[in-house]
Amino acid sequence: MPPDIQPLMQKAEEQLDYAYAPYSQFYVGAALLIDNGEIYTGCNQENAPYPLCMCAERVALYNVGTTHKSFKIIALAITAYNPKKELREPCMPCGACRQVIQEFEHRQKAPIPLYLASKGHYAIGLDGISDLLPVGFSIDSLL
Ligand code: THU
Repeated sequence: MPPDIQPLMQKAEEQLDYAYAPYSQFYVGAALLIDNGEIYTGCNQENAPYPLCMCAERVALYNVGTTHKSFKIIALAITAYNPKKELREPCMPCGACRQVIQEFEHRQKAPIPLYLASKGHYAIGLDGISDLLPVGFSIDSLL
């Protein structure tokens, strides 16, 4: 993990304590850095009707989206913890989150570098969501 990303990943790890995951017991934390130096965070929030569960990444993204009109996300860090098994692989964003990350990339007209980890394990870095969602549905089809 690049040294300058460690504080951001630390914030993502801190979010694991706030995750509400009584059903899956899969705890996810996310933290993103924007161009003015602010950090926005999120964690997964589950609900008894399972489809209402909200992923950590989307909580963090909508958090910054409801606070600023214009911003550029410099980095997005995601980590996870599963008390039932040790996670050795990084937490990969689900399909819905990939789509939402793609929309935020479009909004800022720049890729969002992603740093994916699991608690205590090395992160992988990606230049942007196109590595994980190469041919996603986008605004290009609509406007
Ligand atoms: N989860 C996330 O928060 N982010 C992901 O990208 C993968 C899945 C959450 C949703 C649910 O609360 C739990 O992990 C198990 O799917």
